[in-house]
Amino acid sequence: TAPPTATMAPHPPTAAQTAALQELEAEFAAPQELLCNVVHGLHKSMDAGLMDMHSPRLAMLPSFIVGNATGSEQGRCLALDLGGTNFRVCEVVLKGRHGEYSVRQQKFPIPQSLKTAPAAQLNAFIADGIATFLRDHALQNEDDGNVLSSSPLDLQISPSLGIPVAADAPVVKQVISLGYTFSFPVYQRDLCHGELVQWNKGFNCPGAVGQDVVAQLQLALEARQIHVQVTALLNDTVGALVACSYRYPNTVLGAILGTGSNTAYMEKVARIPKLQTQIKVKRPDLQQRALEQDLEMVVNMEWGGFDNPCAIVPLNRYDQRLDEQSNNQGKQMFEKRISGLYLGELFRLVVVDYIKSHQLFGAYTTVPDNLTIPYALDTSVVSRLVDDDTPNLVHCAQVIKHTLGLNGLTPTDHTVLRRIAAIIAWRSARLAGAGLGAVVLRRRDRLEASSPENPLTIGIDGSLFEHFKTYRTTLLAAMTEIIGQEHMPSIRIALTKDGSGVGAAVAAIMSAEGSCL
Ligand code: GLC
Repeated sequence: TAPPTATMAPHPPTAAQTAALQELEAEFAAPQELLCNVVHGLHKSMDAGLMDMHSPRLAMLPSFIVGNATGSEQGRCLALDLGGTNFRVCEVVLKGRHGEYSVRQQKFPIPQSLKTAPAAQLNAFIADGIATFLRDHALQNEDDGNVLSSSPLDLQISPSLGIPVAADAPVVKQVISLGYTFSFPVYQRDLCHGELVQWNKGFNCPGAVGQDVVAQLQLALEARQIHVQVTALLNDTVGALVACSYRYPNTVLGAILGTGSNTAYMEKVARIPKLQTQIKVKRPDLQQRALEQDLEMVVNMEWGGFDNPCAIVPLNRYDQRLDEQSNNQGKQMFEKRISGLYLGELFRLVVVDYIKSHQLFGAYTTVPDNLTIPYALDTSVVSRLVDDDTPNLVHCAQVIKHTLGLNGLTPTDHTVLRRIAAIIAWRSARLAGAGLGAVVLRRRDRLEASSPENPLTIGIDGSLFEHFKTYRTTLLAAMTEIIGQEHMPSIRIALTKDGSGVGAAVAAIMSAEGSCL
């Protein structure tokens, strides 16, 4: 199997370029045999992680959300989404009619310096953002007034943050419920509390690891007298799964293929041995119910940390360089081969090497300044190069000139740059496809109970999946190799945008209805 552009090149590379590309293809190879090893390795690591609270293999973090959403959840809630380039504050209204909702949101770019500042500063910034949102958006019902439930989770707020409008009305402090999507590994004790296991994706704020991230945020909110209470804490993959099941109740997986990469899935409570002790401590009645009723819980796999020793997926020289220069060396090794944060950087490292080798891009003998900066290129460079289907690679030429800042290259050089991008994306999509296939096979029972009329559904969010067409096709092909073509009609893949907003709101409302432990 070769990356898709290999046969489409309008300007074939020179012999030297071909040799270099063949070497690169071998270094980023992801043949079926490797995919099978990934599936096997994931299954073993999943078992180990479900057994051991602090497994070095896969974290497999219970979310304390039990069962699928039904689609009838109804109410209004605030949601917060932290984990990438921006943080978002949303007001979500769930209408209780299978997937219908409305969202108002405000995005706040996270300054680079805050990603490594003390956690208290990050929380202060988030709390200020929530205050800004509450001030800027008068949280009033814009609907007909009938769609909101009287759930205690409903926002009960007047335009000026909890202060009743009528002058003669009694002053009551109303607490606003908030679902917090926190896209890092958290060891949860219940739905509303969790200790940060480790930072990743460029974040490294001292004072948070081992601490309850909700308590820390709550402190910052209280210091500002913002009457907001976190009622659900969840990973973004969990949010994607829950949001997708709000629309399609037969959802079994939620995945993120964006800045980071990870998956959550529904696991039988009886197959999560490490949970028994936690449930016993918390709610023995629910443990009994879980076992008797064959309940399922959403589990955040944290698959970014799969195969950290790189015993299964080979570590090539570019992976090695990227890892050495990262602030979490030896960690998130699966994610470093897959996710958007790293694909642009891998591409940059290869291009720099090609320029330095003096033989591939004749116009350049030294690396231009803009390409010497780590993470100067993001994944959209890779996707725009690979997805260019214009006859003369017009889009590639634009990206190469304007984004990479490389002038005077030949059409052949453009073809080479496009191939480099395709080779890197190819491995990522195939590994992600194999991972998703592995998780579907883990729930073979749910797959076999599904049908084209009621397909097993996978909710996926993230820019790689949403905006990168060739990536989607490659991922689906790899998944099919793993699961088998005959099962594919019983599987639906749904782009699930807003998982972190809608999923958080649904989780908060499910929790009020007793669907969480
Ligand atoms: C990282 C985080 C994980 C998150 C993923 C996608 O892998 O560890 O919690 O789900 O990024 O944002």
